Amino acid sequence: MSEFLSELWYLAALSRDLRAGAMLGKTIMGEPVLLGRTVAGAPFALRDMCPHRGVPLSAGRMAEQAGQSVVECPFHGWRFAADGVCQAIPSLIAGASLDPARIRCAAYSMHEAHGLVWIYAPQDWKRPAPARLPPPELGALAVGGQPKAIERRVFALPLDHVVTGLLDPAHGPYVHAQWWWRTPAGQMEKAKQFEPRAHGFAMVRHAPSSNSWAYRLLGGKPATEIVFALPSTRWEDVHIGTRRFVTMSWLTPLDQHRTEFTQLLFWDLPQLDWLTPLVRYGAARFLGQDQAMAALQQRALRHDPPLLWIEDADTQAVWYRQLKKAWGQAQAEQRAFVNPIPPALLRWRT
Ligand code: FES
Ligand SMILES: [Fe+2]
Repeated sequence: MSEFLSELWYLAALSRDLRAGAMLGKTIMGEPVLLGRTVAGAPFALRDMCPHRGVPLSAGRMAEQAGQSVVECPFHGWRFAADGVCQAIPSLIAGASLDPARIRCAAYSMHEAHGLVWIYAPQDWKRPAPARLPPPELGALAVGGQPKAIERRVFALPLDHVVTGLLDPAHGPYVHAQWWWRTPAGQMEKAKQFEPRAHGFAMVRHAPSSNSWAYRLLGGKPATEIVFALPSTRWEDVHIGTRRFVTMSWLTPLDQHRTEFTQLLFWDLPQLDWLTPLVRYGAARFLGQDQAMAALQQRALRHDPPLLWIEDADTQAVWYRQLKKAWGQAQAEQRAFVNPIPPALLRWRT
């Protein structure tokens, strides 16, 4: 079981998933969520459950009423605006005392930028309070504004195991064994310096591994920094002179068994533009390899085995657990989060 952290932003969808005047139903953190976009273009999210008899609103349709987009329930036609306020109860007779505006469907905070749509996970999905954290700000990481490649898969594993895999340096030469990345025979000892960051930690900027051919494709003298932040995002920011290549992963727990893995690539290297199909192929292949390993792992996890955590290769996964715990405690005690991660030098062979 993965405990899901609330009061944080999670990637909900890609902008292109949400067409104007359309909606889709999705499970996020085990909760039914309707994601939609008004005809005016604003993304919105509602609890995907009609307050009347519980029918998923996403099974209904979107309509226009008094100049605004509304969601119409398929059961009795009640209508809800993007802010969740009920706009119509068709069965009411003229002069009825019930005011539909007093009925609401829970509405969630959303943020859209760079072709991505985030949702703020409230503590209580039935009665969400407004977001307390500012939305994710990719800033200069979103080189060129929009990702040049997007790869998305659903892993059949709980969130914590997928994050553990994401932070695991030791599987590279095995799961991703291929001539342009790593091979078991080419392993060498590495030492990486880490430091705490806002809601996570960073492998501080360094020259990337010399035993990886893919970095050579970037040319020049690359320097890379890898950052992890709660709830479940990680990015690698490679600088090559004034140019950048950024790989970013966002993990969204759909429920206790499924985690959506979205990988985004941003770059402003003209020499890489004509290789875009190749880069996309590489990203898809990488993620497919991780997904296949997740499926193997899932077979064992049904038996709830005890697992081992070794130094230093598993230290980042241990830090993730510590970060989660610290976040949960800060929330329970209603105080500011204090980052428990120490600066450290970690060593491993990959
Ligand atoms: S269940 Fe939605 S209108 Fe009745
Ligand atoms: Fe991997």
